Amino acid sequence: MAVDATGGRYSGAAIALHWLTAVLIVANVALGLSMVPLPIIPRKLQWYAWHKWIGITVFLLTCARLGWRGVFPAPPPVAMPEWQRRAAEAVQVLLYTLLLAIPVSGWLYSSATGVQVVYLGLVPLPDLVPTDKALAGVLKGTHVALNFTLFALVCVHTAAALKHHFIDRDPALTRMLPRTRPKGSIG
Ligand code: HEM
Repeated sequence: MAVDATGGRYSGAAIALHWLTAVLIVANVALGLSMVPLPIIPRKLQWYAWHKWIGITVFLLTCARLGWRGVFPAPPPVAMPEWQRRAAEAVQVLLYTLLLAIPVSGWLYSSATGVQVVYLGLVPLPDLVPTDKALAGVLKGTHVALNFTLFALVCVHTAAALKHHFIDRDPALTRMLPRTRPKGSIG
C-alpha cells in the first residue's frame, strides 16, 4: 500500500463517525457497569433500555462507517515501519469486528433471557435465539469478555495515536481531528 509522508486527511463524515462512536462506547461502558449492580428499581430498567439502544446505535453506525469506507477509502497511512503499519491495520480490523460483535452478543444475551429488544422503545427487534438460561449465562460471559478485549485494544490504539503525535510528530492523529481554524483567520 502507498505511504503518504504528509498524510491525507479523513473526510468530515469519517471523522464525525469515529468520534461519535468513541463517545457512545465510553458512555455505554459506563452505563453498563453502573446499571448491573443497581437493585431492581425503575431506574435499572430504564438504564438497561438506554444501554441496549446505544449499543444498537453503535452497531448501525459501524455498518454506516464500513459502507462509507467502501465508497470513500481511508487516506493512505502516514510513513512508518512496515510492522507498525501491519499492526495498526490488524488493530483496526479487530476494533471494527468488536464494534459489531459486542452489540450482537448483547442482543443475543437479551434474547436468551427472554427480554425482547425494542429499539428506541419503538422498533421491536426479532429475538435471535429462544429463551435459554444456560445459553444466557454463556452469552453474558461472552459480552463481558468482548468488552475487556475492546478495552485492551482501545488502550493500544490510543497509545499508538499519542506516540505518532508526540514522539514521531506525524499527522496520524491530527488528520482524524476536526479541522481547527488557523490563529488570526477571519470569517
Ligand atoms: C457498544 C456496545 C456495547 C458495549 C460497549 C456494552 C458494554 C457493556 C458492559 C461494560 C456491561 C457490564 C458488564 C458487567 O459488569 O457485568 C454490559 C452489560 C450488559 N449489556 Fe452491554 N454493551 C453494548 C451493547 C449491548 C447491546 C446492544 C445489548 C442488548 C441489545 C446489551 C445488553 C447488555 C445487558 C443485558 C447487560 C447486563 C448484563 C447483566 O445483567 O449482568 N449490550 N454491557
